[in-house]
Amino acid sequence: MAVVRPKPIINHGPAPIQSLPITPERYISAEWMQRENDLMWPKQWLFACLEQDVRETGEFVRFNLGRESIIISRGRDGEVHAMYNACQHRGARICVTERGCVESFVCPYHGWSYRPDGHLVVVPSHHLFEGGVNREERSLPKVRCETFMGLVFICMDNSALPLLESLGVIAERLAPFHLERMTLVGDQTVFLEANWKAVFDNFGELYHVEHIHPQHAMLFDCPTAQVELFTNGHTSVEILGHTVNSTMPVPPTMNFYQLAQCEKFGMDPTTFDGHVLDFRLAMQRRRREMGAALGYDYSDLSDSRLTDIEQFNLFPNTMVTVQPEAALVMRARPHPSDPNKCYWDKFTFKLQPNPAVAERAGVTFRPWRESELLPIPRPVHDEFTQDDVIAGRKTMDATVDQDIHFIRDVQAGMHSRGFTSQLLNEEEARVQHYHDWLDHFMGAR
Ligand code: FES
Ligand SMILES: [Fe+2]
Repeated sequence: MAVVRPKPIINHGPAPIQSLPITPERYISAEWMQRENDLMWPKQWLFACLEQDVRETGEFVRFNLGRESIIISRGRDGEVHAMYNACQHRGARICVTERGCVESFVCPYHGWSYRPDGHLVVVPSHHLFEGGVNREERSLPKVRCETFMGLVFICMDNSALPLLESLGVIAERLAPFHLERMTLVGDQTVFLEANWKAVFDNFGELYHVEHIHPQHAMLFDCPTAQVELFTNGHTSVEILGHTVNSTMPVPPTMNFYQLAQCEKFGMDPTTFDGHVLDFRLAMQRRRREMGAALGYDYSDLSDSRLTDIEQFNLFPNTMVTVQPEAALVMRARPHPSDPNKCYWDKFTFKLQPNPAVAERAGVTFRPWRESELLPIPRPVHDEFTQDDVIAGRKTMDATVDQDIHFIRDVQAGMHSRGFTSQLLNEEEARVQHYHDWLDHFMGAR
């Protein structure tokens, strides 16, 4: 097997501390979990919900994170608001459903009622409160909230940098993929028996890919991936796509994925018999030629972005994977009380052809398949357990399913007296970088 060195890592933002050993404690200890709740989660911008779910007045999403719960809703002023989901009478959760549309939020306990922007409007039997109830003071406390690419982020820290400053270069890299133009086609949550960081780590390295995702060798060239590290603990990786793993023999003919791409873009697959490695550049040219006619606007994407795959890990818990016509947003959420459990959310997007793109380019619109034009209703949120995935009752896609098969065993090993700290290789630099910044935010010196 050929030895292929990874590309040198580009580090734009080393953490302002020395790397510490990554010991199991941070994955299994209730005390660590509490410190994250005190020091880390309240300070960070967190992906909370999709803007499309709070488009109309009164539409809301409840975002639960550990023991915290936040409501994001569209107010009558047309703005998106975020506020704590805790009634200002005696603290009850006022919103107990994950998504919907309301005239007002009515607390189920004694009926205090709040406008969609959190303003307190009704206090039943108001006269019972000596001196009255100050509607301003007893409105739901606000949480900062900003939108980027159709994703709504919240931040509980009033002194944190604005979202785009906190994302830095990552935001500029992501924006050309126009996630906001894509259609949500999947909304899933799996309940995992692993710490939320163990799952996030898994999506911070490609070292495991050859071992548990053998199918990727026919789709991507992971060994030559470009890793970049950014300030605030964000990371990215760019992987050549529409090609094969460069450490393995080149297959003589196209695989099923490449054949499907040939069909979509009207290319003759036999042209590439014996020349599979030519396919990537040929596909870049073909996408440029055909994109507008097929209803896809690639004008903001460089050639390499037409074939490759890029993954951005946004500190602390969200991962965005982008390709020209598809994207994934995945998010780890801690369990309210058990460091050995978490929730892993997966939002799947695809770009539907848009006839206006062809019209603007002055070409005849020829969608790949008429069915691609059909409106796609918002998928129902599907929640299940890792056992559902392992038993084959549910799937998040072949790759994520394979990860899920392993992750509980990783967590189990963290509890062993025989395991004391991780040893990371250069391909796992994103994991180290992430934990360095995590340690920094947790107050390590
Ligand atoms: S706790 Fe909400 S009205 Fe009493
Ligand atoms: Fe994986």
